[in-house]
Amino acid sequence: MSDGGGLDPQDWAAFRALAHRALDETLDAVHDIRDGVPWKPIPAEVRAAIGDDPLPRAPSDPADVYAAFAAHVAPYAVDNRHPRFFGWVHGAGTPAGIIAGMLAAGMNANVGGRDHAAVEIERRVIRWWCDVFGFPATASGILTTGTSMANLIGLLVARRAAAGAGVRAGGISAEAGLTGYTSTEAHGSVGRAFDVAGLGSAALRAIPVDANLRIDVDALRAAIAADRSAGKQPFIIIATAGSASTGAVDDLVALADCARAERLWFHVDGAFGALAQLAPDLRRLVSGIERADSIAFDLHKWLHVPYDAGAVLVRDGALHAATFADHAPYLARTQRGTAAGEPWFTDFGPELSRGFRALSVWFTMKTYGLDRFGELIAQQCAMARALGERIAATPQLELLAPVTLNIVCFRYAAGLEDAASDVLNGKIVIDLQERGIAVPSTTRINGKLAIRLNVMNHRTTAADLDATLDAVLAAGAGLLDRSSA
Ligand SMILES: Cc1ncc(COP(=O)(O)O)c(C=O)c1O
Repeated sequence: MSDGGGLDPQDWAAFRALAHRALDETLDAVHDIRDGVPWKPIPAEVRAAIGDDPLPRAPSDPADVYAAFAAHVAPYAVDNRHPRFFGWVHGAGTPAGIIAGMLAAGMNANVGGRDHAAVEIERRVIRWWCDVFGFPATASGILTTGTSMANLIGLLVARRAAAGAGVRAGGISAEAGLTGYTSTEAHGSVGRAFDVAGLGSAALRAIPVDANLRIDVDALRAAIAADRSAGKQPFIIIATAGSASTGAVDDLVALADCARAERLWFHVDGAFGALAQLAPDLRRLVSGIERADSIAFDLHKWLHVPYDAGAVLVRDGALHAATFADHAPYLARTQRGTAAGEPWFTDFGPELSRGFRALSVWFTMKTYGLDRFGELIAQQCAMARALGERIAATPQLELLAPVTLNIVCFRYAAGLEDAASDVLNGKIVIDLQERGIAVPSTTRINGKLAIRLNVMNHRTTAADLDATLDAVLAAGAGLLDRSSA
């Protein structure tokens, strides 16, 4: 029993009962996920209850705080746990992840450094992923908030490789002309990383894509040659393994060859597509990934680790540490004692304090096993392909991009002009979302607005996809009827 002087409960029994109830209700919510909807709008009074809540200077009973959560927060999720959530690229979470999140919060470990088991767990997890991608024992890596941060870290190591040690103190000037290459289909986080790294987003060339939305490697070579003639310093190629829009995968072997011939850093943004490596029949799609200098990928997407968890692996671990390590006197490392265990994770990224997200990754990988994820990924890609075939065979619908992995992009065409079709398809998506039927999102393919279904959720069945497509057809017909009435 605490003396009540700190923040521990005075009534541990009541607190324990509340904690058990919170866990039970969290598990119930996941167990009963199909009974709910994948999204519903937040009522004005709920938004106000959250938004107008005054600064809490005085304490509240934890039971009241939990009641506010249960009333105002839990019901109004963008519920990517739901089997008919198909928007963007969201993982669904797992029951094992709930336990891991709770345990990590309980330990409250700071995994920036020092000598403790949480650091060993993150090291183990990183080594496992190095094994998955065929990276050598000298490679390094770090768990991140997601692929945006992983892309940034990969870029910073590449910048350090190209500009030398002096870049850390001297920064980078535009005159250096460091120039990078990716495709027009690359994720926005790549351009953002160029901006944040001080290279400027204009130093990133967006190379056109072929009919399958893969980078045009001849156009890439031509762009590199043109930049060299103009006095620029090409330094990095960033491949996309699974584009956010359509799931297109660049030809990684051709890009690895090009990077080697041109002596450029080869970074792969494999946010979700890199995990095709886990499915034996899909692995060929990401062949060449093992030749990357750095790989960025997410664990909160196709591994369903609860948010947030991504990772970056760097082939040259020494260079990775040379990019970030910085030994302030108050962070001195020792041979023995609590401050032992160099290198620390803070040596591999810009952050010092870091949570124990590695536990959620470790728990997830051990509980389900990577082969199970490979099976699920294969099943989801097969369901996406079957959906694509149904769309191609349905006269009212038009498939707008090849189904490479798990993403299906299409529109309710109905013979409309593009502008009118864009409006109609945007309305169809909102209609499905607001009626709680399903959550698709949208993207643009060759300028056309597409309804986009990301088949990633381990709870999704073929029946969910069929029901969603039926709802699209009904909504499209209904909206057209109403507009012509
Ligand atoms: C290809 C690709 N790269 C990068 C990202 C950014 O990842 P995160 O949201 O984990 O930062 C995404 C997100 O969907 C993505 O699909």
